[in-house]
Amino acid sequence: MKFNLKERFEKKFDEEIRFFKGAMRGPKQVGAIVPTSGITARRMASIVNPESGLPVLELGPGTGVITKAILSRGIEPEKLVSVEYSDAFYQHLKATIPGVNFVQGNAFDIENTLGPLAGLTFDCVISAVPLLNFPMQDRVRLVEDMLDRVPHGRPFMQISYGPMSPVIANGGSYYVQHFDFVVRNIPPAQLWVYRRR
Ligand SMILES: C[S@@+](CC[C@H](N)C(=O)[O-])C[C@H]1O[C@@H](n2cnc3c(N)ncnc32)[C@H](O)[C@@H]1O
Repeated sequence: MKFNLKERFEKKFDEEIRFFKGAMRGPKQVGAIVPTSGITARRMASIVNPESGLPVLELGPGTGVITKAILSRGIEPEKLVSVEYSDAFYQHLKATIPGVNFVQGNAFDIENTLGPLAGLTFDCVISAVPLLNFPMQDRVRLVEDMLDRVPHGRPFMQISYGPMSPVIANGGSYYVQHFDFVVRNIPPAQLWVYRRR
């Protein structure tokens, strides 16, 4: 038991070091100071509907905390497609979470990034990409693009750290819902959901 606790501590510490290194290399891309908390990851993954039978799309998995929460919802690793920009995070994810379709590339260029997987319909999209670091027009385009890849009414979930939705509502094409405010996250996290009308 003692050994397990020690192992868990070392693993968590290792993830935080890795995250910190990533943040130092690409502060604009990483956009946070420590990995997402388990409680936030579980709240985000709670929107997955495992009964749909559809794959799930994740954007910006980083150290894989949200990836693991999605798998814990009963999604087979082969049914999870996860797009990570950073090569260091991508290599680590491939080595530590087997079976998941990790794709290295840019979520803002999703058609090219997904390649042969671009034709898939996903149950939902869960994103930790630091949207606030990108221009608003790119954020709107990203949401529109993601909502075209899920059945009508299914969600695009986004984590953010400001009080306002990181993406403006877009003249009737989709609407924004404040999903949760998670204090047990560093910094405290706001969760937003976007759906087609
Ligand atoms: C806030 S961190 C994710 C934190 C993650 N939930 C964790 O706990 O490790 C943001 C992640 O998005 C990735 N990212 C940033 N811009 C991206 C883009 N355009 N496409 C795909 N991933 C991107 C970063 O490399 C980083 O892994």
